[in-house]
Amino acid sequence: MKIGILGVGHLAEYLVRGARGAEFVLAPRSAEKAARLAAAYGCTVADSNQAVVDQCDRVLVCLPAAEGLAILQGLRFRAGQSVCSAMAGAGLAPLRAAVAPAAGFCSMMPGFANAFSAGPSLLYPADAEWAAFLAQCGPVHQLDSAEAFETAAVFGAMSGASIFLLRHLTQWYERQGLQPDLARQLVAQTFRGNAEVLLQADASLDAIAKGVTTPGGITEQLVASLNADGALAAWDSAMDAVLSRMVPGR
Ligand SMILES: NC(=O)c1ccc[n+]([C@@H]2O[C@H](COP(=O)([O-])OP(=O)(O)OC[C@H]3O[C@@H](n4cnc5c(N)ncnc54)[C@H](OP(=O)(O)O)[C@@H]3O)[C@@H](O)[C@H]2O)c1
Repeated sequence: MKIGILGVGHLAEYLVRGARGAEFVLAPRSAEKAARLAAAYGCTVADSNQAVVDQCDRVLVCLPAAEGLAILQGLRFRAGQSVCSAMAGAGLAPLRAAVAPAAGFCSMMPGFANAFSAGPSLLYPADAEWAAFLAQCGPVHQLDSAEAFETAAVFGAMSGASIFLLRHLTQWYERQGLQPDLARQLVAQTFRGNAEVLLQADASLDAIAKGVTTPGGITEQLVASLNADGALAAWDSAMDAVLSRMVPGR
């Protein structure tokens, strides 16, 4: 599978690291990073963005969200090509208009987790070849409605914010005197363990929450304190705001 990448920044590097079965042709602009990825993963570096498009039937767009569509509008695509955008908030219709007569698809992913093939990724609309590519970087969810994709895509921000939460909790333990390595492992293993519960337990979320909350115990106390400060409800308004930014009007 040969994939051209426009925008060789953080996300591009994560996906190159995760998708070991693909052959990548990289845009030259971020020369140092492109050269490093070429040396480490056998990628080819093209002479220009247009050369990437000319050499590849499949093009992955990891350009800055604010300028990405304008950059695509300046390139010539051909019929039979397929373009998948990972740019936050780039809607399917504007993407397809920018890359016509190529086909267009939208995706979203956490980024760094994809380097460890732990994804997950979203794909809209469904496409067997892009799904096979993304599957190298973790589980893939193919969506069949714009509304479901837009809603689910907020997880790109949720994922990044969860790293800040994990860092925040780790730093609390460090301030109490725990060794940084132990603090980091404790936080990461706790969240990984609870993620496994959600994936594996045959129980509703309400039942799981009840099961881990001893009446009058320390979980009940911590959750009550967080709720008194609006800490959990703040996620709702913050995610609403991200959705409205990515999809004006929602
Ligand atoms: N980071 C993530 O984990 C993540 C996850 C999901 C989705 N995304 C999406 O992925 C996209 C890229 O994010 P990022 O975090 O990887 O940003 P980034 O690290 O800034 O990478 C963007 C890259 O695009 C390059 N670029 C800018 N203008 C260009 C042009 N005209 N032609 C070719 N390359 C150009 C930039 O080069 P310069 O540095 O020289 O400007 C930079 O290397 C964004 O749309 C974001 O919404 C990111």
